[in-house]
Amino acid sequence: MFMFKLLAPLLALAALPSLAAPFYMEDIASYVAKDSAADAGVRTINPGPSGTPVAFTSCDAQGTVSGVTISPCESGDGTAGSPCVFTNGNHYTINITYTPDLAATSPRSGLAAHDATESYGADSYAYSGQSFNGCEYTACPVVAAKESEYTYEFVTLDSVFDGLTFNLTTDVFGPSIMCASIPVAFSS
Ligand SMILES: *[C@@H]1O[C@H](CO)[C@@H](O)[C@H](O)[C@H]1NC(C)=O
Ligand SMILES: *[C@@H]1O[C@H](CO)[C@@H](O)[C@H](O)[C@H]1NC(C)=O
Repeated sequence: MFMFKLLAPLLALAALPSLAAPFYMEDIASYVAKDSAADAGVRTINPGPSGTPVAFTSCDAQGTVSGVTISPCESGDGTAGSPCVFTNGNHYTINITYTPDLAATSPRSGLAAHDATESYGADSYAYSGQSFNGCEYTACPVVAAKESEYTYEFVTLDSVFDGLTFNLTTDVFGPSIMCASIPVAFSS
């Protein structure tokens, strides 16, 4: 009796193969496609000793950004009119040179992707795959007035964006010590 109760819903689904089967197959197919893209679609890219300097816009912060590089910048020249193109599945190194006004032992990192088309209902969203631990991207402790590098290994996921904003704050509630936006084009 117990077994029958468990099986009954499955039997009910099995009785509707024309409805159930296509749904399941579609779900499985999309998972397989994502997994194989992540495993096999990634090209190994040698970032080289230095990247392409790209246009950036500073946002309000207690610190200054003096340069941003992207490696590789496969197409485009990194200007706002011709941004570097990030292809789904590929990896890119983004290097930000900054000088913070404040020190930080546990800085918090935030990466927002911009999407002017608002495909996801907002003009920006937190990009997946990031760590909020700023020490993963810049040397810690962060020393006030010392020129430093923030290096982000960007893995391009299948979501639309046309720009990225990096915001490093002293901690969860603290002020920003490094904030820069860069134009980047997404290619699926
Ligand atoms: C990024 O910055 C780090 C630290 O200075 C440096 O070792 C690395 O070569 C840079 N990479 C690129 C792609 O500019
Ligand atoms: C950066 O982070 C600070 C602190 O959370 C916030 O006040 C500021 O609005 C952020 N800047 C941007 C451009 O998101």
